[in-house]
Amino acid sequence: MKHFTSVYDLPSLQQGLEEAFLVKKNPYGFQNLGKNKTMILMFFNSSLRTRLSTQKAAQNLGMNVIVLDVNQGAWKLETERGVIMDGDKAEHLLEAVPVIGSYADVIGVRSFARFESKEEDYNEVILSQFVQYSGVPVVSMEAATRHPLQSFADHITIEEYKKVDKPKVVMTWAPHPRALPQAVPNSFVEWMRQTDYELVVTHPEGYELSSEFMGDVKVEYDQNKAFEGADFIYAKNWASFNDYGKILSQDRNWTVSEEKMALTNHAKFMHCLPVRRNMVVTDGVIESPDSIVIPEAANRVVSAQAVLKIILEKL
Ligand code: CP
Repeated sequence: MKHFTSVYDLPSLQQGLEEAFLVKKNPYGFQNLGKNKTMILMFFNSSLRTRLSTQKAAQNLGMNVIVLDVNQGAWKLETERGVIMDGDKAEHLLEAVPVIGSYADVIGVRSFARFESKEEDYNEVILSQFVQYSGVPVVSMEAATRHPLQSFADHITIEEYKKVDKPKVVMTWAPHPRALPQAVPNSFVEWMRQTDYELVVTHPEGYELSSEFMGDVKVEYDQNKAFEGADFIYAKNWASFNDYGKILSQDRNWTVSEEKMALTNHAKFMHCLPVRRNMVVTDGVIESPDSIVIPEAANRVVSAQAVLKIILEKL
């Protein structure tokens, strides 16, 4: 595996899971792999879990880690080619990326959708330049259209908590005061489609995700109906894809509540975090014994370490 930007970069889903359970059982057993290797984590956007878990995963493998917050102390970066750089951006990605690549053995990049242009976001303007010009393996730490380390952690968590071979997994849209990217839901759906789980997506009309990610996954517009018999409820807000970046609804009837969870098959509640309580999910649900958001977040170390182990073994 040269880069990790989606589920398709894993050698196979099964091998990914095997590596994940191996590093979870023996987190410090592969420290020689990262000896004298440096990982640079580039953050164009804020983070709590991704920053800490990826750093810990790399350190568990013996790597040195350097973290750069691009918006705090680095030069402002131009991303478009052909621009006359007479504004506030002092450096172009086309120089910055290979320079960073010359200091690193692996680079992690977080760069969210900017909602200025659907085309620009869905072409992954920043991540793709790192892949193309850095000269080293690149790991997506959430890009404009996908969050594969999160989806991998979600998959590991479902495997750990499922009570039947083919659980019913329901991803539900939930209200939020701000316009959020589609990266987490896109990536979750794309990843779940590689499993044999029963996947149902539920959201209000107007929140349809790109067909590139949805394929033939069932959309159920009646949230109550979708929840019936569910083994896992995965809640997430996203802004409209068709009416790009717009908030079409803040309907709190879509908040995941105790009443909604009572429709399920004693489902486990999942969310990637951070989460807005009593918008996306009630206090009662997220604090209930069926909430697995903390072990889900803990598995972010596991997914990152499995990915880095596979990459380091090929360096
Ligand atoms: N789930 C997730 O990626 O969390 P952060 O944004 O805090 O990294």
